[in-house]
Amino acid sequence: MNKARFITLEGIDGAGKSTQLPLIEAALKSRGIDYLMTREPGGTPLGEKLREILLHQDMQPETEALLMFASRSEHLSQVIRPALERGTWVISDRFTDASFAYQGGGRGLDYEKLEMLEEWVHGGFQPDLTLLFDVPVEMARQRLMKNASLDRFEHERGTFFEKVRKAYLDRAARFPERFCLIDSSLPLEKINVKLEEIISMLCL
Ligand SMILES: Nc1ncnc2c1ncn2[C@@H]1O[C@H](COP(=O)(O)OP(=O)(O)OP(=O)(O)O)[C@@H](O)[C@H]1O
Ligand SMILES: [Mg+2]
Repeated sequence: MNKARFITLEGIDGAGKSTQLPLIEAALKSRGIDYLMTREPGGTPLGEKLREILLHQDMQPETEALLMFASRSEHLSQVIRPALERGTWVISDRFTDASFAYQGGGRGLDYEKLEMLEEWVHGGFQPDLTLLFDVPVEMARQRLMKNASLDRFEHERGTFFEKVRKAYLDRAARFPERFCLIDSSLPLEKINVKLEEIISMLCL
């Protein structure tokens, strides 16, 4: 049996992460893989409380970054690492790349500071695969407009998301061995085929 993999989903708000989760789930289930789905911020009882605060309460960018990593620390020790150790795959809707994209790219925090937090919270531990759903900002906004209520991040301007998108693409270029870029402007059927191929390769 393959070792349990840690897969993260990334991309700007409205890129299609949540939309693709059921498909990834089905692909793993059909192969008899034991997995769990989780998300950030959140994933633990404390993390979900922090998520509520992060998505709805105004705060300084530094505070935002620290709370994201606080949630992540709890998530890693209580959920992610124990699952991987017992052979369960972990699929997380966002992880540390989101901190570099949103708090770094979007809010303008120093990458060095974020790297210090990353080093403190998870050292050399990284996802085995990061699926980056990339879509033009305007298209993502059009898709999000269908939602009734938007959170604090989703209310940000287009220029904020341009910076977030660029920071994500920079991360993908810097870590090509773990990133897989998915053109999320394509119709869902095309994305589904691509994801099925990626999961097949991972399961070989
Ligand atoms: N490839 C696609 N083609 C058309 N519509 C799409 C596509 N992918 C997602 N959508 C639609 O876009 C909207 C936003 O998608 P989704 O909620 O999956 O984004 P998300 O990346 O999870 O966003 P958030 O970060 O805010 O949770 C949904 O209404 C979804 O149905
Ligand atoms: Mg989502």
